[in-house]
Parts: sequence; C-alpha cells; structure tokens
Amino acid sequence: MSELKYRALRTPRANDIPKTVRRIFSYLRRYPVGITMVFICLITSALTMVASSYFFTPIIDNYVLPYIGQESPDLSGFVKMLTMMAGIYLTGVIATWLQARLMSHVTTGVLNDVRKQLFAKMQNMPISFYDTHTHGELMNFYTNDVDTMRPLLAETLPTAISTLFNIIGVFYMMFSLNFTLTIVAAVSIMVMVLITYYLGKSGRKYFIMIQRSISNINGYVEEMFQGQKVVKVFNHEEEAVAGFRKYNDEAFFGSVMTNTFAGMLMPINQNLSYITYAVVAVLGARLCIEGKMSLGILSSFLLYTRQIAGPISNLSQQFNGMMMAISGAERVFNIIDSRSEIDEGTYELVNVVAEDGALKQCSEVTNDYGWKDPGSGEIIPLKGDIRLNGVTFGYEENKTVLKNVSLYAKPGQKIAFVGSTGAGKTTITNLINRFYDVDQGSITYDGIDIKKIKKASLRNSLGVVLQDTNLFSGTVMDNIRYGNLEATDEQCIEAARLANADSFIRRLPKGYDTMLSANGANLSQGQRQLLNIARAAVANPPVLILDEATSSIDTHTERLIEKGMDKLMAGRTVFVIAHRLSTIRNSNAIIVLEHGEIIERGDHDELLANKGRYYQLYTGKAELD
Ligand SMILES: Nc1ncnc2c1ncn2[C@@H]1O[C@H](COP(=O)(O)OP(=O)(O)OP(=O)(O)O)[C@@H](O)[C@H]1O
Ligand SMILES: [Mg+2]
Repeated sequence: MSELKYRALRTPRANDIPKTVRRIFSYLRRYPVGITMVFICLITSALTMVASSYFFTPIIDNYVLPYIGQESPDLSGFVKMLTMMAGIYLTGVIATWLQARLMSHVTTGVLNDVRKQLFAKMQNMPISFYDTHTHGELMNFYTNDVDTMRPLLAETLPTAISTLFNIIGVFYMMFSLNFTLTIVAAVSIMVMVLITYYLGKSGRKYFIMIQRSISNINGYVEEMFQGQKVVKVFNHEEEAVAGFRKYNDEAFFGSVMTNTFAGMLMPINQNLSYITYAVVAVLGARLCIEGKMSLGILSSFLLYTRQIAGPISNLSQQFNGMMMAISGAERVFNIIDSRSEIDEGTYELVNVVAEDGALKQCSEVTNDYGWKDPGSGEIIPLKGDIRLNGVTFGYEENKTVLKNVSLYAKPGQKIAFVGSTGAGKTTITNLINRFYDVDQGSITYDGIDIKKIKKASLRNSLGVVLQDTNLFSGTVMDNIRYGNLEATDEQCIEAARLANADSFIRRLPKGYDTMLSANGANLSQGQRQLLNIARAAVANPPVLILDEATSSIDTHTERLIEKGMDKLMAGRTVFVIAHRLSTIRNSNAIIVLEHGEIIERGDHDELLANKGRYYQLYTGKAELD
C-alpha cells in the first residue's frame, strides 16, 4: 500500500541494454525464414528508395533539359525512364508492405513464445517468489512488459535497420554526387541528432515517471479491488479514490511533460530540415549557375536530403518507447532466467505389488505405494512415517520462526498442533510439503530425507487442506477433481460425502455442475472449506495435513465432518492444526508450540493433567494471565 513498496519493486531502466537486445535477437532467430525474408525486403526497399531518387539526375539532364523549347520533343526516352522509376517505386512499396506483414507475424510468434516461457517459469518458482511479488506486479509482466515489446519488434527494430541501410545508401550516393553539399547536409543532421538526444534526455525522467505510475496504478487497483469489502466496511471509499488520484495524477503529469518535450522536438527538427533543404538548394543553385553541377544532380541531391532527415528524426522520437520496451523485456528475461524451485530429489512415488515377499514396481494402479530410488532400484514401502529432527527455519535471514523442532508421526497417527497465532504451526506444514526448505536439521519421510524425494512425488503423497481456501473458476465437480484428475464423478461425489459437502452441493442450483465464480465468491466461507476438504479427500493420500480446515464450520457440521474424517483418516498419518481444541481431543499426540518452540507434548489427558499451556488454552485460563 505504501508508495515505497510499489516503487522498490520495479526498476524502469534497463541495466544491460546490449545483453537484452542480443536476447531479443535470439528469439527472432527461431524464425529464420521469416527473418531472412524481412531482411531481404528491408534491403530491397532501401535500395529502391536510393535508386528511384537517383533517377531524377538522368531524367532531368538527358530527357528534360535538352528538349526545353523544342517544337515536337521526342518524349519516348522520358516515358521509358518514368516507367522504370514507377517500377522501382512499386517494388519498394511491395517490399515494405511484405516486410510489415512478415514482421508482424514473427512478432506475434515471439511474444507468444515469451509468454509461454514466462508462465511455465512462474509455475516452477518457489513460494518465496510469490511472497515478494504482488499480484499486480506479476500481471504487469504479462500485460505491460510483454506488450511493449510488440512495437519494438514490429516497428522500431525494422525502422532502425532500414534507416541504417538508407543512411549508408544515401550518403554513398550523396558523396558520389557532390562532396561539399554532403558535408552541409551531414552537419545539419548531426545537429538534429544532438538536439533530439538532449531533449530526449531531459524528457526521459518524465517518461520513467509514467511507467512507474502505471505500475503503481496496477498494484493499487488490484489491492483495492481485492480489499473492496474492507474498504466499504471502514468507509474508506474516499481515501481509496484519493490514493488512486495520486498515482493517476502522476501518470498524467508525466504524460503531459513527455508530450511537451516530444512536441518541442517535432517542430525544431522539422524546421531544421527545411533550413537544411533551403541551404542545400541555394548552394546547389550557385554550383549549377557556375556550371559545376547539373540541375539533375541537384534534384536528386535535394531528394536525398529530405529522405535522410525524415527517418532519423522519426527514429529518435521512438527512442523512449524503445528504452521502455527494452527495460520491460529485461524484467521478463530476468524472471525467465531466475532460479527455479530446486529439485534435487530422486526418489519417486510408484505403485507397488508384493511378490515373493519383496516389493515390485507395477504399472497398474494399486493401493500400495513405494518410494523408488532410480539409482539403486531399491523400493521403500510408503508408510507415512514423518519425522522432524532439530528443525530450525526462518522465512527471512536472522529471523528464526522455528527453533530446533523435533517430532515424529508414526504411520496412522493423528498429530495435532496447537499454539497461539503466529507460533509457527502453518510453517511446519510449509516445510513438510517443501514450500520452503529447512535451514538446519532435517525432515524424513519413511526414513528418507525429503530433500531426496522428488517434489512432485512428495506433494502427491500429501493431501493438504491449506489455511487459505482457494477455488478455481469451473464447476464444483471440476474443483473437487482438482485433487486427482483421474477421479471419476462417483469418486468425487464419494469424497464430497466424506467431507460432508454433498448435502449443500445438492442444494446448489445446478448441483455438482454449478459454476463457481472467482475463488468461489458465490459460496460461504464454510462451504468453501468443505470443498477444500473434499478436494484433499479425493486424492486419497497416505498423509493428510489439515490446516484450520474446520475453522469456519458450525459445531454440528463439524461433528459430521469429524466422523467422515475419522473414516478418511483411518490408516493415514494426519497432521491437524486447529484453534478449536475440541476437534483434536482424540489425537495421538498434541504438540503445543509457542514462538516456534515446542513447549509441551502429550495426549489430551496427559496435557490436561500437566496443567500447563494446553490446560490454559483448553480451559480458557490463558487470557486471565
Ligand atoms: N511468507 C512469510 N514470510 C515471512 N514471514 C512469515 C511468512 N509466513 C509466516 N511468517 C511468520 O512466521 C511466523 C509463524 O507463522 P505461521 O503462519 O506458521 O503461524 P501459525 O502458527 O500458523 O499462526 P495462525 O494460527 O495464525 O495460523 C509468524 O511470525 C509470521 O509472521
Ligand atoms: Mg496458520
């Protein structure tokens, strides 16, 4: 929400322009045919432009001047030359048109590649990446950053290349036509470039301001929409509007200033090019009068003077857009190149059958699983034995959240975590499914260090109901099936029954086919939790982690779920985190956490008898301290 937060996130300047440009070219190389043809077209159109202007020299000197004042001039040569010139013009027009078509095609392909790569990369980013980037900022990568590359690829880049060809061609011709006049034109063009450069430099800070405020606007809008209910509850609508206005005004001011500078540039450059034209014309006329140059050459020369000033001032005006596109591309490439979630694990989850007393991997789906080490081929049966050995962890350096936590869950045991808010309960589950890695100590699963297990296999074997419920756009059935894409409709309904979600789902307008809007906004909080439980249940995992799964559910429903859960939990290792202590009374072990440390452990009766922290929490005496 603070200004600082958004600002720190995005650097509007590119750090390494040559590297980013090289990278952009590497994407273009994936379209060798298109790019080669674009190059051919660019060269063709530059050549035709240079050539067609040159035609004025022979036309005027050989086919116009000698016939002036004649009674019946022979115009056949003149017509022939004009036809040739028209042919050359036409070739140029076709080449330019083809170039634009091809380049737009290639650009679409490149942007498509970049988007796909970016999204795939984001799926492989560690959770900590999402901790440090706002949604608005992430959306910016796909909208602003990728999209600003389109004009760069489709327009600026071809213009730059064709301008380069033009400059080479035109200057070559100019020098061969007249040296002195070329120097005059060159000096004037240098002045234009310098003016553009300095004006552009003064204007750039406003340009950066626009970019920064657009990014701020995105972040702000996103946050205000997400928090719309809170905004209304606290009557902060006016403040919200004022906050928006601040960023929007900044964008406005930036745009006005940028346009002011751009507006200055245009007339200055245009006038300069007129002056150049006039100076060249006067000097050229003098040379003609002195007989040192022909009128035809002067005509061609004047055309060249016009031809070169246009693209150069055009290109210099695109400078800001180009810088924006390059810095956007750099941000996108930085994400694509950043380190993915590391997965050094080798053990895989496989279906097994017992044959002659030994476990064998099999391809058909059985209810028995094992951990297979592809190196040795050894298979360890999956039992659901989870141990934490002296685990120390912090989300940020120098800020320990868990201190030397050791605990074990034997297969089939129900382990409950209790403790005040912020004690580190969710953190433990985050470590078990490896959203984060432990700093010290280790976590083992059936005796294997979880770092040695492939993340996909590890998470496959864990059924997790997260503290924050999350549903996707789709039907209720789709959302339950998210837990196991192979599950049949019957299995999904069975899971819903188990989670006691079935009865409310049937009362929905279209039952299991009811569409859920964004994150299940058309359901109650408790209903969303029930769907989350059903989703975990359909996966049929050997280990279940339930983080506050039943916190928004009434006591009656909770009892029903508990019964279902008991069925679901049978034979599984279960970690439960609950604020309502009534739900965890029957746990094999209750672990009481405080400030990231285990301060008590035991079963319900033992802990009550201890009259410690659990006793206080359970009897509500804690508040009285
Ligand atoms: N993504 C994160 N980045 C930095 N710190 C975090 C992050 N998530 C949690 N923390 C910090 O870690 C500590 C433990 O948080 P945790 O979510 O494990 O608490 P909890 O016991 O689950 O609390 P609750 O009962 O409220 O769910 C808290 O002090 C919290 O501020
Ligand atoms: Mg929590």
